[in-house]
Amino acid sequence: MASRERIGLIGAGPSGMALLRAFSLAEKAGAQVPEVVAFERQDDWGGQWNLDWRTGADKYGEPVHSSMYRDLWINGPKECMEYPDYPFDRHFGRAVPSYLPREVMSEYIRARMQDVDVRGQIRFSTAVRWVQKHDDGRFRLTAQHLVSGESVVEEFDRIVVASGHFHTPQVPSWPGIESFRGQVQHAGDYRSAEGYVGKRVLVIGSSYSGQDLALQLHRAGAKHVTTAYRKQPQDIAWPQGMDEQPEVQRFDGNTVTFAGGAQAEYDMVLLCTGYLHHYPFLPQELALGGPNLLCPIGLWKGVVWHDDPDVLYVGASQQLFTLTLLEAQAYFARDVLLGRVEVPEAEERKADMDAWFERMTQIDGPPAALAYQGAYIQDLSAHTDCPEVDVEAVAETFLQMRDARIEDVRTFRDRQHRSTVTGTMAVPHHTPWMQEFDDSAENFQR
Ligand SMILES: Cc1cc2nc3c(=O)[nH]c(=O)nc-3n(C[C@H](O)[C@H](O)[C@H](O)COP(=O)(O)OP(=O)(O)OC[C@H]3O[C@@H](n4cnc5c(N)ncnc54)[C@H](O)[C@@H]3O)c2cc1C
Ligand SMILES: NC(=O)c1ccc[n+]([C@@H]2O[C@H](COP(=O)([O-])OP(=O)(O)OC[C@H]3O[C@@H](n4cnc5c(N)ncnc54)[C@H](OP(=O)(O)O)[C@@H]3O)[C@@H](O)[C@H]2O)c1
Repeated sequence: MASRERIGLIGAGPSGMALLRAFSLAEKAGAQVPEVVAFERQDDWGGQWNLDWRTGADKYGEPVHSSMYRDLWINGPKECMEYPDYPFDRHFGRAVPSYLPREVMSEYIRARMQDVDVRGQIRFSTAVRWVQKHDDGRFRLTAQHLVSGESVVEEFDRIVVASGHFHTPQVPSWPGIESFRGQVQHAGDYRSAEGYVGKRVLVIGSSYSGQDLALQLHRAGAKHVTTAYRKQPQDIAWPQGMDEQPEVQRFDGNTVTFAGGAQAEYDMVLLCTGYLHHYPFLPQELALGGPNLLCPIGLWKGVVWHDDPDVLYVGASQQLFTLTLLEAQAYFARDVLLGRVEVPEAEERKADMDAWFERMTQIDGPPAALAYQGAYIQDLSAHTDCPEVDVEAVAETFLQMRDARIEDVRTFRDRQHRSTVTGTMAVPHHTPWMQEFDDSAENFQR
């Protein structure tokens, strides 16, 4: 009798959790499933949602994984992140506001796992150090238990990488920045706004971190906040005390010159310049690289490593739909691993990847980006029994949020949206977001 196939899963954040749950549900439904062993270097599951007050090294000397911070609230309505098979109504037992603080969102992601019994498959506090494919076609995975320091080498038939890609800061440089006399911090090391109060702050980078952190600093009492974009200005009417500038050209001490010639002085710089794909446990030929893209380069269907289909990734794409995107990828990965989805020959995979990449290059704004990722989720889900997401309705909700943010970036999180799963309308939060400095679950529920 052939021995049971072994799958090595790296990471038990929302992506790894989704994969473990998808396998468990298949097994409950009668499928023969492989043995899945997950390695997680944190002491608990939840990935980015496990806030760590530390920066740099964690208690084991490992790189701190979470880039989240105090007062982080979700940046899109919860109605855009709702698992269809675990509606917020079921979780809370009543209607709640559209925007949740980190702790509450984290509880939701964890609570969904109650219907499966998979924690025993996870080796917690265990970092994967190296994965190598050998001539026999099997992988040797080296992992270290961080408490005992002990290393083990285990063999697997296939590998799933779900280690996240928002933990290793991308830190560019600018002429003269070494002459800046003030703190320069990357968003990944930001934990709270207190140190920025009364300061003139330059936030470089105009995506989600740039936008949210600029506003966090403003509401906490920074003297002035400038956000500097590279490609495109943001569609935001910045309130008094904030402004927007094009790309930074150079630093001369504390004076910054922007493209176009404008100059201003700053006390602190916050780099919101994104994160690198970083897989130090993989040999180069298996490691995804490149920027944060809706269509990562080298992955068939955004999941299967083209150069070696025995390696799969979950959660490697740029995330608009986030949790439901990770879910669709997890189901797809599971069904590839179960043999329910056939991986075509290299030529056909390449043609499909090229077509999705080309389609990505045509995206001309947020509605098109949402339509693209919605179509991608539908494409994946058509191959699996992943609970269906009404991607058009979710995209519409995202666009309502975007309009509200353009109207007033200070109040968009005070709006309510309707669930596309249950039809339930959210209720207002008790405190406007600009005045809400208690991000605890207890305060949220009161
Ligand atoms: C600041 C910030 C705010 C965000 N806000 C939102 C939001 O409002 N809404 C939203 O939907 N999404 C948000 N996200 C996106 C968030 O990344 C996803 O929601 C989700 O956490 C991605 O899940 P993941 O499992 O793919 O990756 P992660 O959550 O990063 O989990 C990866 C896991 O892999 C483990 N790991 C990594 N390397 C190793 C190794 N070598 N060995 C063993 N284990 C390893 C890590 O410890 C971690 O637990 C935010 C992200 C950031 C950085
Ligand atoms: N809940 C929340 O409020 C919240 C807060 C923060 C982050 N997040 C999440 O965290 C994830 C990561 O977001 P992110 O904003 O950190 O990363 P990101 O979306 O990958 O954006 C990176 C940004 O860095 C800019 N950049 C890169 N190199 C630069 C350079 N040399 N000069 C100037 N700008 C440069 C990019 O500019 P270009 O656009 O010009 O390339 C882009 O604006 C997302 O999933 C997001 O949803 C959520």
